[in-house]
Amino acid sequence: MTNVLNVYNPGTGDYIASVEMDTFEAIEEKITASHIAFLSWSKTSAIERSSLLRKWHALILTNKTELAALITAENGKPLKEAQGEVLYAAGYIEWFAEEAKRVYGRTIPASTTDKRMLVTREAVGPVAAITPWNFPAAMITRKAAPALAAGCTFIIKPAPDTPLTAIRLVELAYEAGIPEDVIQYVNADGEMVGKIFTDHPHIRKISFTGSTPVGKLLIKQSADSVKHVSMELGGHAPLIVDEYADIKRAVEQAVASKFRNAGQTCVCANRLLVHAAIKEEFLHRFTQAVSQLRVGVGSKDVNIGPIINKKGFEKIVAQLEDAKKKGASVRTGGSYDQDDEKGYYFVQPTVLDQVTTDMDIMHEETFGPVAPITTYTDIDEAIRIANDTPYGLAAYFFTENYRRGLYIAENLKYGIIGWNDGGPSAVQAPFGGMKESGVGREGGIEGIEPYLETKYISIGI
Ligand code: SIN
Repeated sequence: MTNVLNVYNPGTGDYIASVEMDTFEAIEEKITASHIAFLSWSKTSAIERSSLLRKWHALILTNKTELAALITAENGKPLKEAQGEVLYAAGYIEWFAEEAKRVYGRTIPASTTDKRMLVTREAVGPVAAITPWNFPAAMITRKAAPALAAGCTFIIKPAPDTPLTAIRLVELAYEAGIPEDVIQYVNADGEMVGKIFTDHPHIRKISFTGSTPVGKLLIKQSADSVKHVSMELGGHAPLIVDEYADIKRAVEQAVASKFRNAGQTCVCANRLLVHAAIKEEFLHRFTQAVSQLRVGVGSKDVNIGPIINKKGFEKIVAQLEDAKKKGASVRTGGSYDQDDEKGYYFVQPTVLDQVTTDMDIMHEETFGPVAPITTYTDIDEAIRIANDTPYGLAAYFFTENYRRGLYIAENLKYGIIGWNDGGPSAVQAPFGGMKESGVGREGGIEGIEPYLETKYISIGI
């Protein structure tokens, strides 16, 4: 009997579909096919690859309604957010269709006249990617598009919660004319796939988005065959509201950052540090805005969908209860809607006041719609607290004072800074973290680099 993976709607617990699981042997076969396809794909012209990526981009746009509905069904995010994600995902393909044509080498002036020195760039080889459930489309295209643009072949292992979007994206790639072995997917146990990908000599690069512990394991496993790695790992984003902030803007952007995808993004603000002088006003307005967010099944007109699964839900509840036990007060939210039998979990958007640095929520990534607020009086203290974490993905701050702003931006140890901006992610900008939040960047002109090798050719004449 074929082993299957059942996919359920996290907002209702309803069964959606089953997908076939790949065996060890099937995955090995796909890697071999990827290796063989690389020999020809890497020799195609950049213009040809660019044109195929453009066709893929166009087909995603043609099918955007279906794709958004699929994302909402398997991930649970509100339909409006899913529609936004489809455009965001397609945007990476369009961006890298262009970047394919800009992979430049260089010549170096030699020390003698009887030499020419060239530097060329070439594709690293077959790439294996392990992608998360929180952006079932965009986290695939952000890796696949630069890989294909560079001339690499690509195998995706999507998250078990959201394999359907991945499958549909690959089908559309085939429809666009991208050869079947150039982009493939596998569905199988994560630990097994991770081991096969990292052990296999034909796979030359691992690209992963997910938790820091799994990222560290993949880096260790990749060491034996010295693979290239790109790691987009956990975050614990601080959001500082300075005494010189435009409070209305800070509230609006803090809500957007904290509650995007029900708080389930690596770059969501995880803890709010608010200057004591403006705290009461900020807290009042923020609480009011959060209490208006509607929670429910993503296909309805809501702002906050379900938590992806029981494990994610339990983590949020544990942090919330720990904070309450240690003295935090709930300004709005704080309740749950849970049905273990049906398999759905919702957390009411929550604002916590009187939060202190000994609470777990001030140290761990929450991945849920809970906003803990603490105060500060000295900006250096706020920066110290903001940087006091092994993570370094995204950080936000709000100030209208440009000297203060530059000072904060330059002293935060984070790969992405949102200054008066709760949504800095963009296809044309580098996305990635410092410290234990990752290695490498995705998107922007930086995003194709991790898929390229540098070759130096010294010619005697
Ligand atoms: C993530 O959560 O890892 C991605 C978020 C984004 O691209 O903005």
